[in-house]
Amino acid sequence: MAETRFFIVGGAGFIGSHLADRLVERGRVTVFDNLSVGRQAYLAGAIATGRCDLVEADASDLPALERAMAGHDAVFHLAANPEARHGLANPRLDLEQGTLATWNALEAARRCAVPRFVLASSGTVYGDTANACDEGALGALPISLYGASKLAGEALLSAFTACFGLRGWIFRFGNVVGPRGTHGAALDFLRKLAARPDALEVLGDGRQSKPYVHVEDCVDAVLFGFDHAADPLNVFNIAPDEVTTVARLAALCIAASPYPGTAIRYTGGDRGWPGDVPRSRLDPSRLAALGWRVRHSSDEAARRAVDALAREVFGAPVPPAEAP
Ligand SMILES: NC(=O)c1ccc[n+]([C@@H]2O[C@H](COP(=O)([O-])OP(=O)(O)OC[C@H]3O[C@@H](n4cnc5c(N)ncnc54)[C@H](O)[C@@H]3O)[C@@H](O)[C@H]2O)c1
Repeated sequence: MAETRFFIVGGAGFIGSHLADRLVERGRVTVFDNLSVGRQAYLAGAIATGRCDLVEADASDLPALERAMAGHDAVFHLAANPEARHGLANPRLDLEQGTLATWNALEAARRCAVPRFVLASSGTVYGDTANACDEGALGALPISLYGASKLAGEALLSAFTACFGLRGWIFRFGNVVGPRGTHGAALDFLRKLAARPDALEVLGDGRQSKPYVHVEDCVDAVLFGFDHAADPLNVFNIAPDEVTTVARLAALCIAASPYPGTAIRYTGGDRGWPGDVPRSRLDPSRLAALGWRVRHSSDEAARRAVDALAREVFGAPVPPAEAP
């Protein structure tokens, strides 16, 4: 039987490189990435297997996508501007890196007759609500340009599945954390601590709370949903049931740094920036009903990720983070 061929758009980044590590166990992998954020070094393990190739190109280039995608069996689309607040300074960013790049990936998949398409989406599609959102809960609309581009990408995938017969999976991630993290609050805090150990500035009042999902659980859940759901369009949240506050995350970062006495200075207000959803919570029960179980609680995911990122920022050894 021919080997399955997987194509990961944005596969040299944080989540994509962990996904590549897993997919080389199942077949051949092509990573398509412009290396704007991702790094070839993140793919060292996958490439060393001899089953993973990197194509350095941009998802805005439809002919390049089509050329590279021909002959593949499934597309995992992860390329995006992953930082919601970057849309404040550049309001076209999420249109180009999100909506249009997703359309290009879908159109290339249609032209290449790739039958399966997986989209990395986000809990931001549920808008500004503190309710535990299940997958049918779309009602409040996104409040960031990033969230808007995720919802647009979901709508495009839905339309492509209905019009052109490909099968689709939408995974709405909580805050994904872990080694090789390229962005996010934990990495920001650790970098700020490295630059200015006397005080840690934290945006907002520290009471913002989000579900943190460890990247191992995230990739595990994506593959589980991919293997166990076979509707024309399958939509799943990926997050633990609980949340972690920003204050707790900051305390974990301080404890994991070489500067355990650092004080926290909050900038105030209920959210980090306009468009930030201060309290989000995702209901993971749809994927759980298929048999998938998250291994790390939100606090455990945050703690493990902070330890790993602290080693990347400060170099080993640093003391393990203790509960604040
Ligand atoms: N990390 C999270 O907490 C989180 C949460 C929800 C959703 N997501 C989504 O998951 C996906 C992966 O996120 P991540 O955290 O791994 O981010 P990341 O930035 O580490 O990975 C994205 C990758 O896409 C590449 N890329 C960006 N634009 C590209 C383009 N135009 N052409 C080719 N490559 C391009 C980058 O170089 C990078 O390697 C994104 O779609 C993101 O929106 C992430």
